[in-house]
Amino acid sequence: MLILGIETSCDETAAAIVKNGTEVVKSTVATQIAIHKPYSGVVPELASRAHVELLNAVVEKTLKRARMSPRHLDALAVTVGPGLIGSLLVGKMAAEALGWAWGLPVYGVNHIEGHLLSAILQYKTLQPPFLGLVVSGGHTELIVAKKWGGYYLLGRTRDDAAGEAFDKVAKMMSLEYPGGPVIDRLAKSGDPGRYPLPVPHLSGNWDFSFSGLKTAVLYLLRKKKTWTLAQKADICASFQYSVVRVLVAKTLAAAQALGMKNIVVGGGVAANSALRSELNNRAKKLNINVFMAPPQFCTDNASMVASAAFFKRHSLHVQSQFHMPALKNPPPFKNAL
Ligand code: KG4
Ligand code: ZN
Repeated sequence: MLILGIETSCDETAAAIVKNGTEVVKSTVATQIAIHKPYSGVVPELASRAHVELLNAVVEKTLKRARMSPRHLDALAVTVGPGLIGSLLVGKMAAEALGWAWGLPVYGVNHIEGHLLSAILQYKTLQPPFLGLVVSGGHTELIVAKKWGGYYLLGRTRDDAAGEAFDKVAKMMSLEYPGGPVIDRLAKSGDPGRYPLPVPHLSGNWDFSFSGLKTAVLYLLRKKKTWTLAQKADICASFQYSVVRVLVAKTLAAAQALGMKNIVVGGGVAANSALRSELNNRAKKLNINVFMAPPQFCTDNASMVASAAFFKRHSLHVQSQFHMPALKNPPPFKNAL
């Protein structure tokens, strides 16, 4: 089954053709980073306008690169939320128009579910049940996936998402947008012990909070007028250490408390090199398997949208209802940091 996915929920205009949910035939991502860079963040109106300009070309290019025509396709899939409303509308209207013109069904996909399932593009036999960690620019969520489409929320951020914290801390240090990859790179040469920062662990529950850590960085930066690049690298290393430490500790503690042997990780922050190595290393010692989305499918892309639609196609309609109730009777979180 060949599904053409469309993703326009934020600042990437993307299309991809995926075979049977796991085999990416071709994936095209037109990033708008250059458009938003001067503002150090995504400007919603500029994002939707750019999607309007780019989307047809991105879909056409994807078909051309795959040497396919719409006749080869079995369905379309499109992100219907959450995201920037104007940007989502561009993708949804385009998918509906193409579905009508080409006589194909259109499946609506939830963006978080796309990130949650994106590791399947590499680990093709992966199946629920598993514990999911979605860490992106808009979300930080621990999800218990019991079956396809059967997701229960265990914990989430109470304020900033992990990626948002990376972006804002980078902005405070006048580093480039998006901040995640820049901090990741600089942290490699930094000393995490030079400027110790708090590890925000919200003891006693499974939620996260990153705004206090962000403020701690702000107060640290105010202590001096200018910071050398080497000092900024130390701050990056310390900030990243705090974020990674709490993400890894809570995820592993949750897997142990729930008796789950498989952890699946997706979202832009899942591309972070420290998170990848720390989670893998610590999980190995506990005999827990970690399946991380391949780096190119961590940040927004349309392959994960087409893939999620394949695994849920029996229950999807254009206005897909994504229901993620809280996990009933969650186990207690004992401070594991
Ligand atoms: O999943 P994504 O593309 O968009 C949302 O759905 O939000 O995630 C984008 C986020 C940005 O905040 C970006 O800074 C972060 O992912 N990010 C990273 C890395 N690469 C991207 N954060 C930390 N380390 C990275 N290597
Ligand atoms: Zn995303």
